[in-house]
Amino acid sequence: MIAKNSNSNRSQTVEFASNVSSNSALNSAADVVIVGAGLIGLAIALELHDRGASVTVIDHGRSLTKASTAAAGMLAAEDPFNPPALAPLSKLSALRYPAFLRRIEALSGVAVPFQTDTTVQYMADGTTTRLAEHSIDPRQLTAALLAAVRATPIRLLEETQIVAVDDTPHGMQVRLSTGIAIASRAVVYAAGAWTSEVMTAFHSNPVPVAPRKGQMLRVRLPATLALNEVHRSERIYIVPRTLGPQAGTALIGATVENAGFDTTVRSGDLDSLRALAAELLPAFSSAAEAPLVESWAGLRPATPDGLPVLGASARAGQFIASGHYRNGILQAPATAVVLADIIEGKPLSLDIFALSPQRFARN
Ligand code: GLY
Repeated sequence: MIAKNSNSNRSQTVEFASNVSSNSALNSAADVVIVGAGLIGLAIALELHDRGASVTVIDHGRSLTKASTAAAGMLAAEDPFNPPALAPLSKLSALRYPAFLRRIEALSGVAVPFQTDTTVQYMADGTTTRLAEHSIDPRQLTAALLAAVRATPIRLLEETQIVAVDDTPHGMQVRLSTGIAIASRAVVYAAGAWTSEVMTAFHSNPVPVAPRKGQMLRVRLPATLALNEVHRSERIYIVPRTLGPQAGTALIGATVENAGFDTTVRSGDLDSLRALAAELLPAFSSAAEAPLVESWAGLRPATPDGLPVLGASARAGQFIASGHYRNGILQAPATAVVLADIIEGKPLSLDIFALSPQRFARN
């Protein structure tokens, strides 16, 4: 199939006819090269694989070790404090989540359960409302997703960097730090908080995605509290784990900081998070009642307007799926479908004009 990409202001065509998987020591080919083996990158890889594309995913570190596993896992499509422009992608993704999990289970043999089915939302006027939203344990999800990807021919190259993306008469050649060169028809930048850094080397219009740090703690549930709903205000959330290895604990998060790539955890910040949580559920104020299990910091990929950046870039054959900020776990399934549609030039089922990379283009 040859398709015209209607999402771009230029004509682009991407075919998945080859299913190329030729591998020599130093040369190979893939219909699509994805830069970034986080949840977004691997969800796109799986979707493209299901559509018949050969896919190689490259990551400068290890797969699924950054924001994907640092997140709390709320599928917060109904959060009234989210920007309205997020709603179409968020709602589509919430709808697609069960099918996404079924696909992962079919490939990996691992069922990933929803941890909670409702969220108690604390409003600014002091009232609460109950939202029909799920949460998920991102560590369970990412372990199953990695097993699913490994059960397919998707090629995963970790600890590898891109050193050049050269245009060729048939598409692009992606040259890697390992000496391998990959002939490819499309490149997708899905490198989370590192997207700008990666793109800057190869693109005259890198999108402005910056790390936004979030510190979080996980505590044992107070014995007096049988918590099976998320509790969330604009400033704090408490996310109980009800199933799996973290059952009987709850996450409390998160700070929102412009701190570059720093991931230091500060005890004073954890104390502040605990105090905010105690405003919703007082039992969390006491470290004796709700002892600390672990703490960490993750780096959300944030754009200046807080919206994802999703679509064709200004350079032919290159696409972007990044900037998911506080909603990457939720938005992965829909991002994968929408970006695959864009790459194939199919009509889109939702309006993502507000998410276009062109809003950041300099020329
Ligand atoms: N997804 C929640 C957060 O970013 O804090």
